[in-house]
Amino acid sequence: MATAHSTRRHTLLCFCIFLSSILSLSHGRLTPNFKIRAVNLGGWLVAEGWIKPSLFDGIPNKDFLDGTGLQFKAVTAGKYLCAETGGGSIIVANRTVASSWETFKLWRINETNYQLRVFNKQFVGVDSGGNGIDMVAIVADTPGRSETFEIVRNSNDLNRVRIKAPNGFFLQVKTENLVTADSKGDGSWGNDDQSVFIITNTGGLHGEFQLTNGYGPVNAPQVMTEHWNTFIVEDDFNFISSNGINAVRIPVGWWIASDRTPPQPYVGGSLQALDNAFIWAQKYRINVIIDLHAAPGSQNGYEHSSSRDGSQEWGLSDQNIQETVNVIDFLTSRYANNPRLYAVELINEPLSPGATLESLNKYYRAGYNAVRKYSSTVYVIMSNRIATSDPKEFFSLASGLDGSVIDIHYYNLYSSNFDKMSVQQNINFIYNNRLPELNQLTTSNGPLTFIGEWVAEWNVEGATKEDYQKFANAQLDVYGKASFGWAYWTLKNVNNHWSLEWMINDHYIKL
Ligand SMILES: *[C@@H]1O[C@H](CO)[C@@H](O)[C@H](O)[C@H]1NC(C)=O
Ligand SMILES: *[C@@H]1O[C@H](CO)[C@@H](O)[C@H](O)[C@H]1NC(C)=O
Repeated sequence: MATAHSTRRHTLLCFCIFLSSILSLSHGRLTPNFKIRAVNLGGWLVAEGWIKPSLFDGIPNKDFLDGTGLQFKAVTAGKYLCAETGGGSIIVANRTVASSWETFKLWRINETNYQLRVFNKQFVGVDSGGNGIDMVAIVADTPGRSETFEIVRNSNDLNRVRIKAPNGFFLQVKTENLVTADSKGDGSWGNDDQSVFIITNTGGLHGEFQLTNGYGPVNAPQVMTEHWNTFIVEDDFNFISSNGINAVRIPVGWWIASDRTPPQPYVGGSLQALDNAFIWAQKYRINVIIDLHAAPGSQNGYEHSSSRDGSQEWGLSDQNIQETVNVIDFLTSRYANNPRLYAVELINEPLSPGATLESLNKYYRAGYNAVRKYSSTVYVIMSNRIATSDPKEFFSLASGLDGSVIDIHYYNLYSSNFDKMSVQQNINFIYNNRLPELNQLTTSNGPLTFIGEWVAEWNVEGATKEDYQKFANAQLDVYGKASFGWAYWTLKNVNNHWSLEWMINDHYIKL
């Protein structure tokens, strides 16, 4: 009996597979039979300081992270240091106001030593020609020891600093036009001390690079492991599955492909965390979307793509594109046979003009093929560029690729359009602008549509809980029409409205 049953089941199963392959063939496209209602696991495997600021608490000199902009006002001259013409020339101290040429971005070597990147992306060094003491912003793309300075802070006033050059002497401002590296730095620290500068910190990034490099190779592994093991745990998948969510979108960084020994300053171990996510996803029947959130070189210059100093270098060479394809290849090959792998997102939020249509088209095609090497059913998600004027920019490519999905992020933020909007105007915007656009993008022969990030947050001040509920419901209503589905940004966040966990627990959102 048992055998007969299982044979019949087997026959039935084969028939169903046969039928569904005919159906999907007749459609010519992979078509999902349910929609994704997902939450992003933001700030987990790609750190973001605003999501969990306490991560940075233990970093010495934590206001001097990679990418932090410093302006130096010489106390004697009362003027700012400036890389004349933005770089490639000398350092002067003759500017009364500080702007881009007067802002030096830190590359952190350790808690005391830094390299100083100027506007044109070169690094400050001491000129080895001439008399050997004049300061010159040199044309060096990869700085070394001779471009490494120690920043010594006055313990009574951390904004008063001296800058020790690689020759062992301190910078001093002899005249507005002559900055030399020949002070013993043993003066009074007062306003008559030519080696003293008052700094203005213009802020910087708080991403995975800053975090791991800030802690350094000795402490970072412990801090990151602790974060990975505690920020998202099995119980979160239980919570997710019992609250009407059927998928997670998991941001990962390119360095995960070289776990356990990723290039410095990154730390190995995020792959183990991703493995755990798949185990929990299996247990609670949650689908997984792997999202390459940080591509090598950074595709948008933001901390969430792990940019070191705001520069955006992704896609500038075929080698870089190939390196990115290799990351997709690695991740897909690892999880393709896992029934929970639902989709792979090739890159998150590329930004024009740095990320060009040409490089993205090339990458998307190659990335798609890398996924298809291992799976004919995993969906392949392609991200529109941030704030693109043409939300169909990848349609001609994607329409020819079975199982492709276009990811569009909808935030009523990040544009002055939203600054003065009322509650009702925000809601109207969802129905009057987002909905028609989404309808236009959702076509029967084009790619599927996915709102891969949205949030019930806005610029409305003093909004009530009911206002938030209405706003969330309007978005759920409209984004629910996307053919692939949506994903809230994010599950956990110290900013409550950005935490779906908080929003569900406090009854702002019910699915
Ligand atoms: C920081 O780096 C500099 C230059 O490599 C080195 O001389 C110094 O000992 C380091 N300091 C610490 C605290 O590691
Ligand atoms: C600052 O000094 C440089 C070098 O002498 C000079 O070329 C430049 O014009 C000066 N700029 C100002 C604003 O004084």
